[in-house]
Amino acid sequence: MTIQKETENLPAGSSVADLLLTWYDERKRDLPWRRTKDPYVIWVSEVMLQQTQVKTVIPYFERFLLRFPNVRKLGEASLEDVLTVWQGLGYYSRARRMWEGAHYLLTQWSGRMPDSFAGLLQVPGIGKYTAGAIASIAYGQNVSAIDGNVLRVVSRLLAWPEPVEAVKSYRHFDRQIAAWQSALRPGDFNQGLMELGAMVCTPVRPDCAGCPLVQVCQGYKRGDLLAYPVKKIKPQRQEVTRLTFVLRCGDRVYLQKRPPEGLLANLWEFPGVEFLQEVSLSEALPVLTQAEWLQLFQDAVTDRSFDRDVQSLMARGLHLQGPVWYNFSHRRWKILWLIFDLNKTCSGQKFACETGGEFKPESAQTQKHNYEEEPLKEVEGNYLVKKLNQHLPEQSRCWISLSDLGQIPLPVAFRGILEGLIK
Ligand code: ADE
Repeated sequence: MTIQKETENLPAGSSVADLLLTWYDERKRDLPWRRTKDPYVIWVSEVMLQQTQVKTVIPYFERFLLRFPNVRKLGEASLEDVLTVWQGLGYYSRARRMWEGAHYLLTQWSGRMPDSFAGLLQVPGIGKYTAGAIASIAYGQNVSAIDGNVLRVVSRLLAWPEPVEAVKSYRHFDRQIAAWQSALRPGDFNQGLMELGAMVCTPVRPDCAGCPLVQVCQGYKRGDLLAYPVKKIKPQRQEVTRLTFVLRCGDRVYLQKRPPEGLLANLWEFPGVEFLQEVSLSEALPVLTQAEWLQLFQDAVTDRSFDRDVQSLMARGLHLQGPVWYNFSHRRWKILWLIFDLNKTCSGQKFACETGGEFKPESAQTQKHNYEEEPLKEVEGNYLVKKLNQHLPEQSRCWISLSDLGQIPLPVAFRGILEGLIK
């Protein structure tokens, strides 16, 4: 989209900046930080106003400045003192970062504030928004200060079709604001946009009749103002049920290595199957045929008389445990598990856990295996099932004693299972 210099719908001789500033001069709230051009004071106000409402900020702002009236006093204070004055305002990392910034200014700049947008950006804890607010308000620099309110106002003014979180959106808004901004009063222009977002162009019930920019507002013109700002669609978390087999032989358990790419790459796990949906305890067991069950153990135990034992165990009924839940950003695991104790459930000692060798960290990490994603498989029309890493090479399988588990990278998702095994 092109940058709008001025807009055709405006009366001759007026501009977006004129309309906004006239409204701002008449309607702006009298707020303590609007009575000064001291960059330190503006810094304090802008940091406090992030994530906190104006009326909550005012008493904290006044107390903070009484205690720490300038960069030097803040930089010389202990972090504990700063946090004590901040107490109750929340998001304490803001206080810590501002204190670190003051420290930096004290040691590198003799306690002075840099006098430009670029200089302010060098201060630890000062990002583009805060640098833009300080530079435009205190120094009259022609730069934007884009916070959440401004994003909403500008996205509606432009009927901006892209998610506002996108870098492309930020760049466009930044240039658009600079083009609209009054060369004489950039700080008031920025605060005017913030004020408009807080008082008029509110998230839910905007007061378009009271808006000084309604004539130029594309969202208003299109009648779909509330569609903006467009938000990035968050992918839904995929529900995955893992039916996990814990093969145990005395004090050792059998593990397999995950592929070198993707989720939990190179970590180790118990074998099993994944259902690509949520499956209940009672649904999980009957989904696999007996042959499919047996196949799952073929890598771990080579003696095939084991199959008979598993079959008889299944006939007697298996006890499924769980669930425990584990959340990833895009996926949620529901873990159900079955414990097969080879010494207990099978006849004699013939399954000496002979395959897969001991866990050797170096060899396990260096050797490569061509992992192919098992194709998804539909079972009984309803369930999408994925087997986990069948037919792995020896270095990607191991029997490991419970006391050595600390040596092997195992996802925390399995902690619940291990706790049950160890106790
Ligand atoms: N929110 C962020 N900065 C602000 C300011 N300068 N005035 C009012 N609200 C704000």
